[in-house]
Amino acid sequence: MKNILIIGATGQIGSELTMRLRNEYPGGNVVAGYIKGAEPKGALLESGPAHEVDITNAAQIAEAVEKYNVDTIYNLAALLSAVAEAKPQLAWKIGVGGLYNTLEVAREKNCAVFTPSSIGSFGHNTPADKTPQDTIQRPDTIYGVTKVTGEMLSDYYARRFGVDTRSVRFPGLISYTTPPGGGTTDYAVDIYYAAVKGETFKCPLKPGSFMDMMYMPDALRAAIEIMEADPAKLVHRNSFNIASMSFDPEIIYAKIREHIPEFKMEYELDPLRQKICDSWPNSLDDTCAREEWGWRPEYDLESMTVDMITHLREKFGITAPEVAHAMA
Ligand code: SER
Repeated sequence: MKNILIIGATGQIGSELTMRLRNEYPGGNVVAGYIKGAEPKGALLESGPAHEVDITNAAQIAEAVEKYNVDTIYNLAALLSAVAEAKPQLAWKIGVGGLYNTLEVAREKNCAVFTPSSIGSFGHNTPADKTPQDTIQRPDTIYGVTKVTGEMLSDYYARRFGVDTRSVRFPGLISYTTPPGGGTTDYAVDIYYAAVKGETFKCPLKPGSFMDMMYMPDALRAAIEIMEADPAKLVHRNSFNIASMSFDPEIIYAKIREHIPEFKMEYELDPLRQKICDSWPNSLDDTCAREEWGWRPEYDLESMTVDMITHLREKFGITAPEVAHAMA
């Protein structure tokens, strides 16, 4: 990888991955692809090139690839699960139509392509615990339907046209930088914001709702390492199960209270998110990723919690004693 285009560079993953790739590949172009209304700002704008790339517009993708001599595309455009249920046609247009545009440009211009899949690519009849790499994928959501279609289309382009497509199935991603929007796993981000700000957290999922989660630095490393992996060792391509931690609302609440004892959580269930969560696995088996390209997570719930609280306090200018005082 030398010249990289990130489609969706101002989103939850893109805003951090773009900065990380610019650090990893200082000699190349790492182009922040954005849509109108979500232009890059601050460090993201100042640290490298940016180009308008709406994934539903194949000509814009091709233009950016040509202009910057791109050899690798990170396709991060998507609607998250709950938003996608409200706009299924748009979810398909971006998730599948957009991927098709990307793969066609990649085929013509000889680019490698990374397109994340998700725990959402599984459904209610998938084995829920230690979900195997190769298993039933009959998702119940349009988000999942686009992800499974994306996995198959990407594998087809690799087999049929030799396009170097690779990907991972991301769990819920937790970060203090750019907030996510409209996902089912997002409660696990929101809970830290509430805890640090001294607010009571209204949890949308009931106790016992287990899902895989991952701290953003591990997710970014996975996205880079899979694209750097030796292709001769890859038995799979689209997509690898990766995992680092699985918890339910009670476990993350208890963990945060070890650090912020005054923190309070109440349940206010969201039926749509609960239904989506109930159809997703509790935990994935990531043995294939470990064996085929050496995947290893670095963060667990404790180290992620310490880091999240520290950075969110910095972000909001809150010191620990003030939080304790504000809640007293
Ligand atoms: N974080 C995503 C969602 O909740 C799942 O990959 O929609």
